Amino acid sequence: MTSPSSQASSLRVAFLGLGVMGYPMAGHLQRAGHQVTVYNRTAAKAQQWAKEYGGATAATPADAVRDADIVAACVGNDDDLRSIVLGEHGAFAGMKADAVFVDHTTASADVARELYAVAREKGLHFVDAPVSGGEAGAKNGVLTIMCGGDAPAFDRVAATLGAYGRAVTRIGEAGAGQLAKMVNQICIAGLVQGLSEAVNFGERAGLDMPLVLDVINKGAAASWQMDNRGQTMIDGKFDFGFAVDWMRKDLGLCLAEGQRNGVSLPVTALVDQFYGDVQALGGSRWDTSSLIHRLRVLSGKKA
Ligand SMILES: NC(=O)c1ccc[n+]([C@@H]2O[C@H](COP(=O)([O-])OP(=O)(O)OC[C@H]3O[C@@H](n4cnc5c(N)ncnc54)[C@H](OP(=O)(O)O)[C@@H]3O)[C@@H](O)[C@H]2O)c1
Repeated sequence: MTSPSSQASSLRVAFLGLGVMGYPMAGHLQRAGHQVTVYNRTAAKAQQWAKEYGGATAATPADAVRDADIVAACVGNDDDLRSIVLGEHGAFAGMKADAVFVDHTTASADVARELYAVAREKGLHFVDAPVSGGEAGAKNGVLTIMCGGDAPAFDRVAATLGAYGRAVTRIGEAGAGQLAKMVNQICIAGLVQGLSEAVNFGERAGLDMPLVLDVINKGAAASWQMDNRGQTMIDGKFDFGFAVDWMRKDLGLCLAEGQRNGVSLPVTALVDQFYGDVQALGGSRWDTSSLIHRLRVLSGKKA
């Protein structure tokens, strides 16, 4: 594991995809002293980023990566990733020999292995590196980064990723980072449903729930979700954070992988359906803690 105190010398870095996560991540690279060139499909966002941080912009992924030692990306899903990596204007067409592509998208282990193999054929390197820590983690530069790929390629990028990662760890071979992120999402799914049921139960019992959470958060039930989402769940506030649509994408990856390797994920499958209910209630962009809203609706009580 690499800690943020590890120093990386100034490098040429490209960053592709300036969404909720990518925008501040690319900003941390520029602030760390690297020469950053960004690409975003919607060019206005790249212009805005360059105005804010002072780096360069490019019109295509291939143009953005030309001189880069490291290319980082954070887009939506497998297909988005293929569209910025492959093809005539994709990153692999423009990268110089021996450069390393680091993918922060939460995607399948399959696409990580596929792009790792294509990279090798072209004399490039590919590291899958999904993140945990959400928008706040990206803005504050304290993400947890789970990596898969060859150890020498990981070693070359780890210190640079420290610009926005509090913990940067190589888990194993290509795809292992994405599999570790699936483990993370399986944990969260069951945990948030448990927390939702607990808060809804306590409210129904007439308890002072802020007080109860404050007390039990010092005991064995403590969690990041309780710390960071307990009060907003009580308040019925969901217009922020990690969107239900993204969570369903992630749980879909977990369930597909589970089916492939013969592992039963009954709670994950159930919670995925519950998130489907939240989407039907209009909560596609709500934070994942909105599972409690579904319970309140079922109990006949509006959030
Ligand atoms: N948000 C979180 O809390 C969080 C936490 C952990 C992991 N993640 C994961 O991180 C990834 C990005 O999340 P986000 O919240 O940053 O998403 P987002 O705000 O929706 O941003 C997505 C980015 O990908 C670009 N993009 C999407 N499809 C593309 C395509 N086909 N070609 C080129 N660019 C494309 C978008 O460009 P445009 O600007 O043109 O749309 C945008 O820059 C996802 O895989 C997500 O699951 C998110």
